Amino acid sequence: MAEPLVMVLNGPNLNMLGKREPAIYGATTLADIEAMLADAASTLGLAVDCRQSNHEGELVSWCHEARDRAAGLIVNAAAYTHTSVALRDAVIAAELPMIEVHLSNVYAREPFRHKSFLSDVAVGVICGFGARGYRLALEAMAEIATAGRE
Ligand code: DQA
Repeated sequence: MAEPLVMVLNGPNLNMLGKREPAIYGATTLADIEAMLADAASTLGLAVDCRQSNHEGELVSWCHEARDRAAGLIVNAAAYTHTSVALRDAVIAAELPMIEVHLSNVYAREPFRHKSFLSDVAVGVICGFGARGYRLALEAMAEIATAGRE
């Protein structure tokens, strides 16, 4: 049986990780995170497809694509978390388990970051653990995506 595919979607400005506000987001680059996830996926018996976009519509289209290809979604929608009804609707339309990730603890930051359009349609939310949060999300998704197989 093919390994379950997890799509990992990163939103706007996350291509700047490592350079962007390192005191908040850390020194790890997105390429480092994606390499770490590819490594972890092979240990966990998963495949990963990691993508990043600065464009809301592209993230929406990737959720639609995931519906037919993936077993789960891991999403750091960055600023769109706090603004995008379109992305929320796309996640619902995907009909897949979704885990929301944030590098920073958004609840310890500005009040506008406390509102998420995604959290209540997520299986769970991981925030404040930096790049490690993606790995924690993948481990959780491994259990969810492989439940009932075999
Ligand atoms: C973020 C938190 C968001 O509020 C912010 O807009 C980001 C990154 C995080 O990973 O901590 O761009 O999603």
